[in-house]
Amino acid sequence: MVNFLIFGPPGSGKGTQSVRLAEKFNLTHLSTGDMLRAEIAAGTSLGKRMSSIMSKGELVPDEVVIELIASKIDKTKNTAGFLFDGFPRTVEQTVSLENMLEKRNMKIDSMLVLEVDHDELVKRLLARAELSGRPDDKDPAVIESRIDVYKSKTEPIIDYCRKKGLYRPVNGVGAIEDIFERLSEQIRIII
Ligand code: AP5
Repeated sequence: MVNFLIFGPPGSGKGTQSVRLAEKFNLTHLSTGDMLRAEIAAGTSLGKRMSSIMSKGELVPDEVVIELIASKIDKTKNTAGFLFDGFPRTVEQTVSLENMLEKRNMKIDSMLVLEVDHDELVKRLLARAELSGRPDDKDPAVIESRIDVYKSKTEPIIDYCRKKGLYRPVNGVGAIEDIFERLSEQIRIII
């Protein structure tokens, strides 16, 4: 089992690249954003409680996503490893993930960080708002707030992982196919 974090600010391309990488390397893609949106779409009580937090661009409580991830890991069979997208988002979530993996004889093997400048992020998210219907993409103020939350709460994970030798930055600007090749090169070094 080889487990990767795909990391980067909102709009950096984590979801776009994860789908392709998961298929190419037989990894299981686990996106907490997708899981939470599925709860909202299904009208579950969890989805109803999380919906307003997400539409404001704030983070949902750590225990909610930790529970969702643990349950998915335990249900997954026959995989070469996991690709965690949008999780962890706080250092506390990172420590929980490490503990969760350790109990199952696994670990985080690498952190792939997509680097994209602020203006490109905003441009991509506003463009997606036209099609996606995601409430957190529609309002430029919410986009800025998501980027701020990333900087204050999520970015510190980079230092935490760098100290463990896991950090692998990747240029996230350019054609989707070129970025996919850059990420694939990094994955090939590990597997
Ligand atoms: P989440 O779904 O994780 O959203 P996000 O991190 O804001 O990421 P995005 O989906 O917006 O961007 P992405 O990096 O995946 O980029 P994408 O490939 O889509 O989280 C949503 C919310 O859920 C959070 O705000 C929070 O409330 C909650 N949440 C989720 N996980 C949580 C956790 N662990 N803890 C607490 N709360 C949590 O690309 C973006 C756009 O750009 C697309 O339209 C795409 O087509 C386009 N694009 C991609 N690559 C390129 C390229 N190279 N050139 C041009 N356009 C591109």
